[in-house]
Amino acid sequence: MPASLPNALDAFWMPFTANRRFKAEPRLLARAEGTRYYTPEGREVLDGTSGLWCVNAGHTRAPIVEAISRQAAELDFAPTFNLGHPKAFELAARLAALLPGDLDHVFFANSGSEAVDSALKIALAYQRARGKGEKTRLIGRERAYHGVGFGGISVGGIVKNRMHFGGMLTGVDHLPHTHDLARNAFSRGQPEHGAELADALERLVGLHDASTIAAVIVEPMSGSAGVLVPPKGYLERLRALCDKHDILLIFDEVITGFGRLGAPFAADHFGVRPDMITFAKGVTNAAVPLGGVGVSKAIYDLMLERADSPVELFHGYTYSGHPLACAAGLAALDIYRDEDLFGRAAALSAYWEDAVHSLADARHVIDVRNLGLTAGIELAPREGAAGARATDAFHACFDQGLLVRVTGDIIALSPPLIVEKAEIDRIVETIRAILTGLD
Ligand SMILES: Cc1ncc(COP(=O)(O)O)c(C=O)c1O
Repeated sequence: MPASLPNALDAFWMPFTANRRFKAEPRLLARAEGTRYYTPEGREVLDGTSGLWCVNAGHTRAPIVEAISRQAAELDFAPTFNLGHPKAFELAARLAALLPGDLDHVFFANSGSEAVDSALKIALAYQRARGKGEKTRLIGRERAYHGVGFGGISVGGIVKNRMHFGGMLTGVDHLPHTHDLARNAFSRGQPEHGAELADALERLVGLHDASTIAAVIVEPMSGSAGVLVPPKGYLERLRALCDKHDILLIFDEVITGFGRLGAPFAADHFGVRPDMITFAKGVTNAAVPLGGVGVSKAIYDLMLERADSPVELFHGYTYSGHPLACAAGLAALDIYRDEDLFGRAAALSAYWEDAVHSLADARHVIDVRNLGLTAGIELAPREGAAGARATDAFHACFDQGLLVRVTGDIIALSPPLIVEKAEIDRIVETIRAILTGLD
């Protein structure tokens, strides 16, 4: 490493990063293709996490690269406030066709965080438009990750993401998380125990009254908190309670959307219909930032019908429906369809499940869980140093040519949907070897 490099790295205040440690010991990525990253020195790193759960079709796919480049030359930017450009409408229509049930309208944002804030605002504006303006409470869940906007951290449930930022939104409450190692450790697919945790919503209704609650938001499968798979029957129960109490149900599918569980959306996989779905990441295969909200016909129609001014929703972003993002999104959807990548993920998931569960007897492992092409490998924490063991595993994996993601003491895996069986074997063997050698 040239002596000048630490200074060269200093200006970028890196997100969710131990900046001092990184800059003392940088790990850089220079190039990517398919399932592989390459460091500036040309060392290959197998991508076990689809970047950050987002490069579902693999890296630098030619049709997406070409679509972005053509679009940049043809129409770099066009406002979507009272104007429009064809690809934004085309992508919305394609997504509406892919989204489940009557989720047939799409609002565009630029990230998962913005998608979540948009969905929460739509929920509040919808309740007001239908004459239920007192329904203002939002219900999230412990250990949830809904991005980093004030809306998202308010309904989110990851302590460090909340504790430094004051009181956040008022009128928010939380369901209990569903992670229960005592009853569910080493579950294959959905765990058996915990559907009754959805009944906590009944208690919140008892506490606040349903007339004050606008919406419940959950990740149908929590990704960022370490792959927390919903217990059998849990989401169905939540849906039934939301129906019973006239509360909107929002699924945050920023990770689970676009094939991660072997279906277009987790809502399809679980057969449970939310009123809104937030998405981002895989929608463009991460080549250009894009997020959005799939909204039910009932919500959209009522908002337009009852609007008290010609503009029915006072919300939007300069880059809502950015031409480059829309071009990338259309090309990504073509790849998903033409290569049947969601079907491929479904077909591979049994092999994946067997492979990751073979780590059950690896050193330090206290749980292995999986769904679709995701897995969480939970490690026993080091005495007095929560998270340290998994962080060391992350660094060792990278140095051995494998990118994993860690959160707390959990290794989270989510390879691109194009991953080959031999690559799955390599992921598992690398992790086993590293855990064996780790304190
Ligand atoms: C479920 C969920 N919601 C929201 C977000 C935030 O997305 P972004 O980082 O694009 O703002 C994430 C990111 O991982 C996520 O997993």
